[in-house]
Amino acid sequence: MHLYDFVSYCGMLTDKARLDAYSGALRNTVGPDTIVLDLGAGTGVFSVMACHLGAKKVYAVEVNPLIRLVEETARGQGFGDRLVVIQKLSSEIELPERANLLVSDIHGGLPLHESGLESIIDARERLLTEDAAMLPESETIFFAVSESEEIYEKNVSVFLREYGGFSLPAAERIVKNRWFSSRSDDERLLTRPAKFAQLDHRVNSDTSFARDLEWNVEEAGTAHGYRAWFESRLPGGYSVSNGILVKASTYASPFFPLEDPVDVSAGDVISARINAVYEDGGYLWSWQTKVTGNAGEVKAEFAQSLIASIIPDPKSALRRSEFFEPALGRQGEIDAFILSRMDGENLSGDIADEVLARFPDAFSSAEKAVERVYMLVERYCRG
Ligand SMILES: C[S@@+](CC[C@H](N)C(=O)[O-])C[C@H]1O[C@@H](n2cnc3c(N)ncnc32)[C@H](O)[C@@H]1O
Repeated sequence: MHLYDFVSYCGMLTDKARLDAYSGALRNTVGPDTIVLDLGAGTGVFSVMACHLGAKKVYAVEVNPLIRLVEETARGQGFGDRLVVIQKLSSEIELPERANLLVSDIHGGLPLHESGLESIIDARERLLTEDAAMLPESETIFFAVSESEEIYEKNVSVFLREYGGFSLPAAERIVKNRWFSSRSDDERLLTRPAKFAQLDHRVNSDTSFARDLEWNVEEAGTAHGYRAWFESRLPGGYSVSNGILVKASTYASPFFPLEDPVDVSAGDVISARINAVYEDGGYLWSWQTKVTGNAGEVKAEFAQSLIASIIPDPKSALRRSEFFEPALGRQGEIDAFILSRMDGENLSGDIADEVLARFPDAFSSAEKAVERVYMLVERYCRG
């Protein structure tokens, strides 16, 4: 999982509309009997709010070590005994009791982001009471056909132009088969939104989605792609969205380009098969488009997929073959040696001395050997 840096958390904390909605929903749901699971607690902002609102217990679960910083706040504000920090992936934890409120704003530009949905489903099944409240309780993902000369120019056409004799035609397949987060004041939607997915977190167990969508073009223009966004519903009537009218969302909404811009008139029909397949902790998107004119003529047909944007790497393809015979390189030998000494009987300092003696020219200092041991301890050891 990608770990956010500190600056990204600043962005989340300055998204006032998001914070207002979540704090309103927390005010609506937290009482003296509330046991909160804050999944993906980040800075711990929702955990602290819940403590202030009188929650009985709050479990702040966050994989990023930054969560440790909130312990000082909890002690300083007198609720150190009610806020429990767990610096781990939620899928790896057990709780001493089931929580009756889940708060989990673990988005990217859409709720289909990394392993977010899988984590919510897993938490609901293992860590929550049956009647637990959920923040957000449901989310809807919308797609609409969008026109933006500037977005298309900046993210697609730019790679296909010639500069002083240089052009990169080989990049065409790549830039036309990936989505990107980009905004522009010249963007306008040519159709109404169509619903791609409706996620009711209280019951949803799907992580992959496939839908056939259809739009009637309402205004003539040039279709450059699809703008996708979400709307999260929270208890108490609060909501959060990153649609194009929301200027300051921390979650930049994705834009899926069309293979080529298509001139459309009012009354044209655009249909698309959109797939979001969850695999290996991420989403493989594909979008197939057909544009039909007023008189029934097919104006354009495209089949686009994130798979086509992967840059081929012959070396990696060979290594990923089942006929490859892997043998450890030097760095692998060093790590294998260190791991072999981690049998619960040896001290980290002694293992560092041993690896330094065995591979003397692999480390510029004794501290580097110690660091290498610590790194492997972090990654692979129990406890
Ligand atoms: C978008 S941030 C939100 C942080 C904070 N809740 C807030 O609203 O400001 C999502 C956080 O969830 C964490 N996260 C995502 N999935 C997680 C999981 N399964 N277990 C623990 N942390 C997770 C990420 O590391 C990230 O810090």
